[in-house]
Amino acid sequence: MRMNESDLITWSDKFACGIKLIDDQHKELVELVNEMFNHVTGNGLQERDYFNRVIQEAVNYVKTHFATEEKLMLATKFPGYTEHKKEHESFILAVVDNINDYKAGKRLTLSTFTRFLKDWVLSHIALMDKKYFDYFKTIATRKADGKLSITADDVNNA
Ligand code: FEO
Repeated sequence: MRMNESDLITWSDKFACGIKLIDDQHKELVELVNEMFNHVTGNGLQERDYFNRVIQEAVNYVKTHFATEEKLMLATKFPGYTEHKKEHESFILAVVDNINDYKAGKRLTLSTFTRFLKDWVLSHIALMDKKYFDYFKTIATRKADGKLSITADDVNNA
């Protein structure tokens, strides 16, 4: 993973759940926030141009991640699924509001937008995602290399 001195978030294993698919996606989200933050120049026009080029792809990536998690939660019969899905949905609504405000030139700057993303991503991983991490760990199979995986059997036995 690319690291830069001016990154806003430094990936740490404390964010990891041990399920490669999810950890890779979370790393990608961290990368996305850092990439955005590294385009904060203080030049409004430049920032707006960058934002307009990347924001849809960023939102799509977040949606893909949420869909992956939700599928895994359903497949493993995670009891906190509904609550978690609601958090995802309200985040997407908040992002869309922020995007509209940014595009309309209201208050937000690329820096504040990026910090909003950072705060949400970090607190969501630490609080909400952590709940299903713990659940996964109770049902996942530990392979010979020590990594966790969830198989159909794990799900059926959950
Ligand atoms: Fe990793 Fe619930 O988002």
